[in-house]
Amino acid sequence: MGEENRIPKEEGLDNSLKILKDGYRFILNRQHRFQSNVLETRLLGEKAICLTGKETAKLFYDNDKFKRSGAAPKKAQKTLFGVGGVQGLDGEAHHHRKALFMSLMDKKDLQQIVDLTRKQWESSSVKWQSEKSVELYEESKKILTQVACDWTGVPLKKSEVDKRAEQLGDLFESAASLGIKHLKGRKSRVAAEKWLEDLVEKVREDEISLPEDRALYTFSWHKDHEGKLLDKSVVAVELLNLLRPIVAISVYICFSALAVHQFPEESNKLKTGEDERLQRFVQEVRRYYPFFPFTVARVKEDFNWEGYTFEKDTLTLLDLYGTNHHPDFWENPDRFEPDRFKTWDGSPFDFIPQGGGEFDIGHRCAGEWITIDIMKVSLDYLVNSISYDLPKQDLSFSMTEMPSLPESRIIMENIRLNA
Ligand code: HEM
Repeated sequence: MGEENRIPKEEGLDNSLKILKDGYRFILNRQHRFQSNVLETRLLGEKAICLTGKETAKLFYDNDKFKRSGAAPKKAQKTLFGVGGVQGLDGEAHHHRKALFMSLMDKKDLQQIVDLTRKQWESSSVKWQSEKSVELYEESKKILTQVACDWTGVPLKKSEVDKRAEQLGDLFESAASLGIKHLKGRKSRVAAEKWLEDLVEKVREDEISLPEDRALYTFSWHKDHEGKLLDKSVVAVELLNLLRPIVAISVYICFSALAVHQFPEESNKLKTGEDERLQRFVQEVRRYYPFFPFTVARVKEDFNWEGYTFEKDTLTLLDLYGTNHHPDFWENPDRFEPDRFKTWDGSPFDFIPQGGGEFDIGHRCAGEWITIDIMKVSLDYLVNSISYDLPKQDLSFSMTEMPSLPESRIIMENIRLNA
């Protein structure tokens, strides 16, 4: 028998409100205080274990130890995730559904989405030349809404772009909000699911013809691990698991533009357009800037790890932001240094902005390669294909709002196409 260790425990009946105060640093601050990568607190009225760092990430992604069903807070289901999607599945049902997502991620699919993205940047920037100023965040959401719909085969009229961009944006902008913003997110989820359910019906009734390799088609006809066609509401949720996060890459595009501005010595290196340089820069954007603070699971069965007892069903949070900034794994974690990725060993557990572990059998983000590729083509476009001025504006970003964004959303003026 190994030695018993007590998990350091934060006092208090419920510490949920402290997440609002400490924001992205909620777990990392406690890691410093308790000098432990495993600690206990109380959140949303129940005991919760918080994990941070490479070793505990490895533990968190052990499917024999953690499960996802019943882990996501109800509020997030009403806006961000929906009900019945891949995030809440375990075991065979999860592997089967995840394979559907991963089947869209081969080289040809990635090249297609990169080409679509470049095309949208080109047509948008032609329009921007005659505008006094544009807000990069809003424009990126519109660009990526069109990319996402084109790529998945979802029909989208030009006149619909603004409305759908706002709706899809609401799903991730409202996930951690309260009050009116949260209600707007719920309303947008209902509307977006209805939109996609109607399309699934039309595909199944042969009222829309589209290529068989488009996600709208494959998801509409997908059968679950027991051979049953998915309910149209679940297909809609899964299609939103493609459309919503593609649009959410706008957040990273804004942070990329911010980094270009704030770290000119690094962005000057991008002028060669070299893929390796773009890759390191976007990796550092994903490491350095905040997006998702943590992800959640529940303990599957009682187990013991390093002397710590984990009891069945305990809510467990894995610190994504904190692991990316953990001083044991990252030198000068609060400096923006793309070249750190020159020597990074590619571990699936120390750099986890979109989750860690394996894609096929774990819950790691299905769209990580798409994210990197869309970020690279967008960054290259911003640095090498257009020129613009940034007027005086508030470029600060919050460490407590989720998702965080540069306050001004990046206002650009005097946009010119480079010769
Ligand atoms: C804005 C960039 C993105 C960020 C920050 C992000 C982040 C994440 C995170 C943190 C998870 C959960 C990991 C876990 O719980 O272990 C996740 C899961 C997921 N993401 Fe992303 N993601 C992004 C883009 C995308 C894109 C572009 C797609 C699809 C085109 C996508 C599809 C998914 C899916 C389907 C899952 C669920 C995977 C599963 O449960 O097995 N994401 N993402």
